[in-house]
Amino acid sequence: MMPLTLACASLLLMCVCWSVALCPPRCVCSGTPLTVRCSPTDLPGLTGTLSRSGDSLQQLQHSSFRGLRNTTLLELSHNRITEIGSHAFSSLLMLRSLILNNNALVLIHPEAFSIPGSPLEELSLRSSLYNHTSLTDLITALRWGELFNLQRLDLSGNRLVLLPPGMFTPLPRLQYLHLNNNSLVAVYNCTFTGVENLLELDLSRNAFKMISGEGLHELERLSLVRLMLSQNPYTCTCEMLEFVHWLNSSKVKIGDVERLSCESPAEMRNVSLRVINAQVLGCYGEAQKVNTDLSLHTSYVFLGLVLGFVGMVFLLVVYLNRKGIKKWITDIHEACRDVLEGYHYRYELDSDPRLGHVSNRDPRKARAPTDGGISQIPSDVTL
Ligand SMILES: *[C@@H]1O[C@H](CO)[C@@H](O)[C@H](O)[C@H]1NC(C)=O
Ligand SMILES: *[C@@H]1O[C@H](CO)[C@@H](O)[C@H](O)[C@H]1NC(C)=O
Ligand SMILES: *[C@@H]1O[C@H](CO)[C@@H](O)[C@H](O)[C@H]1NC(C)=O
Ligand SMILES: *[C@@H]1O[C@H](CO)[C@@H](O)[C@H](O)[C@H]1NC(C)=O
Ligand SMILES: *[C@@H]1O[C@H](CO)[C@@H](O)[C@H](O)[C@H]1NC(C)=O
Ligand SMILES: *[C@@H]1O[C@H](CO)[C@@H](O)[C@H](O)[C@H]1NC(C)=O
Repeated sequence: MMPLTLACASLLLMCVCWSVALCPPRCVCSGTPLTVRCSPTDLPGLTGTLSRSGDSLQQLQHSSFRGLRNTTLLELSHNRITEIGSHAFSSLLMLRSLILNNNALVLIHPEAFSIPGSPLEELSLRSSLYNHTSLTDLITALRWGELFNLQRLDLSGNRLVLLPPGMFTPLPRLQYLHLNNNSLVAVYNCTFTGVENLLELDLSRNAFKMISGEGLHELERLSLVRLMLSQNPYTCTCEMLEFVHWLNSSKVKIGDVERLSCESPAEMRNVSLRVINAQVLGCYGEAQKVNTDLSLHTSYVFLGLVLGFVGMVFLLVVYLNRKGIKKWITDIHEACRDVLEGYHYRYELDSDPRLGHVSNRDPRKARAPTDGGISQIPSDVTL
């Protein structure tokens, strides 16, 4: 039971089959399945169990949790963990929830979250990523971890500025995604690719000044989602109209729509986005321009499609008639050659009489000089 006791040193454990008689010292055990709460500060002597090199550098290694096969919830918050090694949790075959809030993860191994059978359903990393490098590590670990059953991911409070495109694609079952309390400024085309079944997406308390057309298009694809967008510093200028209009008409449910308000400019502060329109913002021209731009864009696309279709039909016709066309071209070519030869002859007749002797050498034109050039022309043309 040594590893069990040690691992419990700084966590809250919930084990499926763990008799109360085995409740580790200094831990409080209750409920079924059993919940074990161990306060990290109560156990100074045991902090080293999760660490290789001292109190301030906490590393989770491959062997950290041996003997906890039946644990379904592992709570490791507030432990100053900086590094998660390869297969750190791979002996926890029943682990459904892994809570790592309020740590300072500097290094996350690509296979940090790999567990045979992919049992993990919840991963919470609130205020846990040390810097942007750890985000890159995390993205790799999400991709390598085979987290096919993950339903909840909490990345709030991590000062995230940018979400790389497709970062959630390896999580096909994801339903609850918490990105609140970060510094996000934009949503792009591929930000939520692969997680179209999201039920909840929290983007509140970020740095969005507005959400662009591209972002709205992306969010609109998440048809089941309940979206949280409040506590962002919305800037209520004419560019905001598209977003406001989307709020009014989108099929996406916005859970906190009543709490969305402008932060700037100063005279619009605290004005609800619900009451904003072109009139309130004083930008009729702009609204019109957006509309014409859009319809112009649509008509260009339509024109392009029609032209493309006509072109394809033309090519098809040409292809089907290729024999006839070849013959036709040969005919034309021959006809042209005849006509050209005729003109050539006429030119020679028309030209300077002093060159008459040149024509004489041509057997076909031998009679020409005797009859006089001009009278000869009509019969030549009919050739
Ligand atoms: C895990 O649970 C099974 C029954 O489901 C039990 O037989 C086994 O002893 C438990 N293992 C541990 C390490 O608690
Ligand atoms: C993140 O922190 C680690 C450790 O201090 C450092 O090596 C790395 O360069 C940092 N990355 C960035 C992007 O600041
Ligand atoms: C937001 O995140 C920061 C760390 O990035 C944390 O200190 C703060 O308590 C969080 N705020 C809320 C309201 O959760
Ligand atoms: C995003 O998608 C929109 C429409 O689907 C498209 O017009 C735009 O070019 C795309 N942007 C990028 C960066 O792919
Ligand atoms: C959105 O709807 C509200 C009323 O429901 C209306 O006052 C406001 O003008 C609308 N805004 C836009 C941009 O359609
Ligand atoms: C805006 O609303 C907040 C809270 O609702 C309030 O504390 C603040 O004073 C308001 N600011 C203005 C300029 O009305």
